Amino acid sequence: MKNWIHIALPKGRLGEKAYAMLKNSGYDCPALEDPGRKLIFENPEKGIRYFWVKPSDVAIYVERGAADLGIVGKDILLEYQPDVYELLDLRMGKCRMAVAGKKDFRDPVGQTLKVATKFPNITRSYYSGKCRDIDIIHLNGSIELAPILGLSHVIVDIVETGTTLRENDLMVYEEIVPISARLIANIASYQFKDTQINTIRERLQGQVERKYD
Ligand code: PRP
Repeated sequence: MKNWIHIALPKGRLGEKAYAMLKNSGYDCPALEDPGRKLIFENPEKGIRYFWVKPSDVAIYVERGAADLGIVGKDILLEYQPDVYELLDLRMGKCRMAVAGKKDFRDPVGQTLKVATKFPNITRSYYSGKCRDIDIIHLNGSIELAPILGLSHVIVDIVETGTTLRENDLMVYEEIVPISARLIANIASYQFKDTQINTIRERLQGQVERKYD
């Protein structure tokens, strides 16, 4: 019996680009190209099943074995530290995690720094490395509003093109870490489906090298 490979793709542009790479590697799935409202797509001939999930949930599906493989941003791996194997840097979906604030921001030395973010763990670890006392304000989106409305002194957030910061008169003060998309695998799947998973990894790696090296 064929071993199906289940792949969790992050809904959105990153997932579409990742699927294009998988398709170029021979793992096409015509049903996925006309998705409608469906969430699961399979190509029985290739033994491959894809599903679209919220980007921040990909690692959960993979860690718990609902997916053998997933495509996820390094930000999610750093924030949630899931117990998965990180197999490959796809070198796309590039952005950076940064500290940003209003243009007239001055660090209130001696006071607790108020930091708004979707990434409390990354934030905590970054500032503990600097021995800076902070108060984390955990938001779920539109983080840029926080310093503008006086909710926080700064934000820790993803900066991709910089447009959101620019259009809201904010600027980057410190770069924390560069981010890109990673191929991850469930630990047990990697043991039991190693041949198939390694073939997928090698084909994707070949594409990454042809594109960037
Ligand atoms: C992310 C991030 C920034 C924006 C950065 O938000 O939180 O707000 O993208 O991209 P840019 O540098 O290209 O402008 P997302 O679009 O995920 O929405 P959110 O505000 O709901 O988190």
